[in-house]
Amino acid sequence: MRKAIIAGNWKMNKTMAETKETISALAPLVKDADCDVVLCVPFTDIQAAKKAARGTNIKIGAQNVHWAEKGAFTGEISADMLKELKVDYVIIGHSERRQYFGETDETVNKRTQAALNARIKPIVCVGETESEREDGLTEKVLERQIVEGLKGFKSKDFDKIVIAYEPVWAIGTGKTATAQDANETIGYIRKVLAKKFHKTIGEKARIQYGGSMNVKNCKELMAQEHIDGGLIGGASLKADDFAYIVNYNK
Ligand code: PGA
Repeated sequence: MRKAIIAGNWKMNKTMAETKETISALAPLVKDADCDVVLCVPFTDIQAAKKAARGTNIKIGAQNVHWAEKGAFTGEISADMLKELKVDYVIIGHSERRQYFGETDETVNKRTQAALNARIKPIVCVGETESEREDGLTEKVLERQIVEGLKGFKSKDFDKIVIAYEPVWAIGTGKTATAQDANETIGYIRKVLAKKFHKTIGEKARIQYGGSMNVKNCKELMAQEHIDGGLIGGASLKADDFAYIVNYNK
């Protein structure tokens, strides 16, 4: 049985004071969650978030990590730096990073390796754009992102790697893939993992859905066989909404 993981992606939102306020409000609401509960916060909020989440079941993640140990990479953060802050998860290859910051399958691969080396669990994002979908390229794009992005990883690495399927056209737009569509596509990702990596990985990998998941649609999405939770943007900024999604099966 795969354990669901509900992760908030705060993107470039919240000051330290707001971080403390949100986590203090959230903690009592999610304390009995059956799933893993994660908040991926801006780098500058990590310490405040760790402090606010101390003694709770909320894990803290970052939103990016560089692959080099150290050096002349202005504006970047290394895996060791995150490790020192005791970060548990890190989002890698989010579509906003692919779109605005030149992230590629190759950099996704290197960042994922760096995270694993530092014992930080990577949440690796994949997903097709609207035009790729319209051109019938969804499966081809996903296969490339999975095969190239996760090239070289072994079965045991998939105990740590979480995959987030986020159709780009559904992110922050209010458009969601139908639960059936999302389930089918994630089922396809499982087939790719089984075929290109190892047959057991298709079944054991944890794969989230992301893209306008909210209090209204979370139950139906999460009820799907292949979906193991969600990566939640907008709806993770409000403690009440995020808690509702975390407690979806109650
Ligand atoms: P959204 O973002 O829930 O606001 O669509 C999801 C994400 O980008 O991870």
